[in-house]
Amino acid sequence: MCTPGKRVCRKAPGVRIPAHPPLNIVKVFFEHMSDFWRLVFGLAGKAGGNKTWSCEINSFQDYETGYHKLAGLLGYCEKTGSAGEIDLIRALLERRRFFAGSLSLADSLFLAAFVSILKPERILEIGTGAGFSSALMAAIMSPKSGRGAGVCVDTIDAHDRYFGDQELAIGCEIPYLIPDLSKTVRVHPSRESNFVRSLAKNNELNMVFIDANHQHPCPLLDVLQVAPCVRPGGWILLHDILLGTLGEEARNNGAETQFGHPFGAEWLFNSWRCKKIGGGNIGAIQLPKNKKAIVSVAKELMRLPFEVAWQSDRRLRREIRECFALP
Ligand SMILES: C[S@@+](CC[C@H](N)C(=O)[O-])C[C@H]1O[C@@H](n2cnc3c(N)ncnc32)[C@H](O)[C@@H]1O
Repeated sequence: MCTPGKRVCRKAPGVRIPAHPPLNIVKVFFEHMSDFWRLVFGLAGKAGGNKTWSCEINSFQDYETGYHKLAGLLGYCEKTGSAGEIDLIRALLERRRFFAGSLSLADSLFLAAFVSILKPERILEIGTGAGFSSALMAAIMSPKSGRGAGVCVDTIDAHDRYFGDQELAIGCEIPYLIPDLSKTVRVHPSRESNFVRSLAKNNELNMVFIDANHQHPCPLLDVLQVAPCVRPGGWILLHDILLGTLGEEARNNGAETQFGHPFGAEWLFNSWRCKKIGGGNIGAIQLPKNKKAIVSVAKELMRLPFEVAWQSDRRLRREIRECFALP
């Protein structure tokens, strides 16, 4: 989800556009450009120009079948979930107290199955929030599934307060959800994705989860920042890959969307040229063998109108370009 109050969506009610005539002309131009590109990128995703595998797991009953399909897509056909995995996911979902910006049932099942199949040594997450997804991933990777009690999830958040309740710290839900395992999650408040390079070596990671600022081009910047640390063929999971479309549908049906409906994660997922798996509003993109191939996707995405406040435009363009020198 996007961060409240930071800005938003061009078309969302209450949008703050500077009262500056030349900028308003530019804004109108980009609004129409945005619709054009939205159509092109939407069609590209649907037309299968970039092959998207689909594996939605919408209920507990579907978990085993979905798990099996996902395992096949990831190249681990023989893999089965560990005993009690469904009960563990169910217990965490029932125990969760803070819902703002967090995962749905289908997102949670997809994420849990992905972690269980891939069994990475360590996962890096961008966007902690109250900490539900961190706790879920740590629980699935827990010592009961054959691991030591070392840190297995590093989670980064740009803020130190949970946006759903400013009284609470980032990651506040983790000790409550997984009291015995909370030390396996390391929370890094007030950091952004460029901090990843202090946490992991080049090509070290097999899996990263990105669920931070969804306004274009922030998810792209996050992917570029973490890419050096992800090994070729490794996976990056993106949350809210349908947020833009769902928000727009809601708006067309007369519903107010509180934080806008950014398309950043959706455009990124749709334009990805390497293997990708959609699980509904969550998806996974695989890093190519030659990571430099990401640069051409990034350049294409940079042509889309940015959804962040105009003041951040220049800085983000510079930061993205700096990432092009991928190792
Ligand atoms: C949707 S919440 C994360 C929810 C969490 N993954 C879960 O499932 O419970 C998004 C978080 O990203 C953080 N965030 C926003 N922009 C960010 C950025 N540029 N870098 C890192 N975190 C960011 C926000 O402070 C917020 O806590």
